[in-house]
Amino acid sequence: MSRIPLIAGNWKMNNTRKETLDFLSSFLPKAENLSVEIVICPPFTSLNTAAEKLEGTKVKLGAQNMHWEENGAFTGEVSPLMLKEIPCDYVIIGHSERRQYFAETDETVNNKIKSAIEHNLTPIVCVGETLAQREEGITLDFVMGQVEKALKDVAAEDAKKIVFAYEPIWAIGTGKTASASDAQEVIGAIRNKIEELYDKDVADVVRILYGGSVKPENIKELMAEDDIDGALVGGASLKPDSFYAICSFNI
Ligand code: 13P
Repeated sequence: MSRIPLIAGNWKMNNTRKETLDFLSSFLPKAENLSVEIVICPPFTSLNTAAEKLEGTKVKLGAQNMHWEENGAFTGEVSPLMLKEIPCDYVIIGHSERRQYFAETDETVNNKIKSAIEHNLTPIVCVGETLAQREEGITLDFVMGQVEKALKDVAAEDAKKIVFAYEPIWAIGTGKTASASDAQEVIGAIRNKIEELYDKDVADVVRILYGGSVKPENIKELMAEDDIDGALVGGASLKPDSFYAICSFNI
């Protein structure tokens, strides 16, 4: 089963509209020769600017979060309809920073996944353990629990549309990458879990990314692992040169 590699840049709370245009002016001409699928996820305020610039290119657009309702009294939130209108193709759901600082729970993650699929947005669903959980030896149990709760009441045909991202919290923004074999161990277990919850057909098509201090120096090694289908890149996606170096790992 061959899954198309996916490299997604999560800009987090970085890049004004001007900085977004500067990034894309430098990155897009180079991106034309890339063979992997590429997604950039700017902050909400830059989505429209990015969408105009990305029209007719191979680079796709994602948001970093959304509410599950289409509209309503939810001050400060953005709905799937609003993202679709931009138009966004992807939306990151359940990033550990949202779980840690903004009270995102497994239940809200599940609601958002179902809503994203219903609105034809591809969810990039983040899971991952803390350092304390890794040291306690409960990484696999904890992450498989997150996966199972994320997929509650999601039908097999819909589950196939989801992208997972395994992001160990201790590796995010710390410069400490999980070794390729540690990442493969958890990502392989996620694929087995999906097979257990559905079947091999679903498990074979779901793409699972690694995230946490991905850089040009470690991407090749990560991508060489059987179950790692791409990367969710934070810091190194903010500079056109380093993001391009990561996206061109197979050239
Ligand atoms: P860094 O690549 O900066 O470690 O961030 C990873 C991340 O959180 C991507 O979503």
